[in-house]
Amino acid sequence: MPDSFITAVEWLNLPQAAPFPGKIARCHFAVTAYCDALFAELGVVFPSSLLRAVPKRRAEFLAGRYLASRVLDSLGYPHFTIEIGEDRAPRWPQTVRGSISHNQDTVLCVAQRYETSPPLGGVGIDVETLMEEQQALDFLPMIVNGAEYERLRRHPQLSLSVLLTLTFSAKESLFKMLYPQVGRLFGFLDAQLVSLNEEECRFTLELTMTLNERLRAGMRFEGVYQLRCHDILTFLYY
Ligand SMILES: CC(C)(COP(=O)(O)OP(=O)(O)OC[C@H]1O[C@@H](n2cnc3c(N)ncnc32)[C@H](O)[C@@H]1OP(=O)(O)O)[C@@H](O)C(=O)NCCC(=O)NCCS
Repeated sequence: MPDSFITAVEWLNLPQAAPFPGKIARCHFAVTAYCDALFAELGVVFPSSLLRAVPKRRAEFLAGRYLASRVLDSLGYPHFTIEIGEDRAPRWPQTVRGSISHNQDTVLCVAQRYETSPPLGGVGIDVETLMEEQQALDFLPMIVNGAEYERLRRHPQLSLSVLLTLTFSAKESLFKMLYPQVGRLFGFLDAQLVSLNEEECRFTLELTMTLNERLRAGMRFEGVYQLRCHDILTFLYY
């Protein structure tokens, strides 16, 4: 195991997410320790779409696929190659729902196994480095609508950086969770944060747009978050 590139797998137990019946894992990786030979060492297939990618992108992809392979292994799918699907969505085994996320040094993977083909539903996970205050101000109109902004302002104990990063991350988790059913991109203003519980580290997102026959405007999804010094993790499943 090339320890200098990737750390040991940490199996996460998000108490607020109980009773989630799948696995959530986290690793840290070092882009500076990356080299192409690590793909073979870690048993990950190098996809042709990465041929022109910079080392940072190769490193995060490798870390994500490596961690996902460890999670799938623990669910009874050793040696499964997760290919890249439409719009970059990972292709999981038919009886698995999963999600991957990375920032500059952290990678997360969640997956849940079903006995037969999964019912409707999914999982989404995301990790975001905390934005700078100015970056948060610049991104604000692209991430939240006016009503959401007013709701966020009711949490003065949290900085704008934390509030915006959290909302951004929650929506990315939602996107990854719903994409397999929606089958197309949808935007940050197609959902809004309608509640944030700081004590329990929970949030609720509501669709503002109907995405398909089942995912209609007004549908709500509960998620949880974990705030650390430099980043925020968000997680949703239904
Ligand atoms: C895909 C996206 C959600 C996250 O990408 P990112 O900024 O690179 O951030 P992350 O590292 O957290 O996630 C990347 C991983 O998400 C997964 N992913 C990418 N596209 C995906 C999709 N369409 N569906 C599900 N998962 C997807 C992949 O595993 C990817 O990593 P990989 O390419 O190394 O396999 C983002 O780029 C995007 O396209 N957002 C626009 C849509 C959106 O978020 N709308 C909000 C709706 S409320």
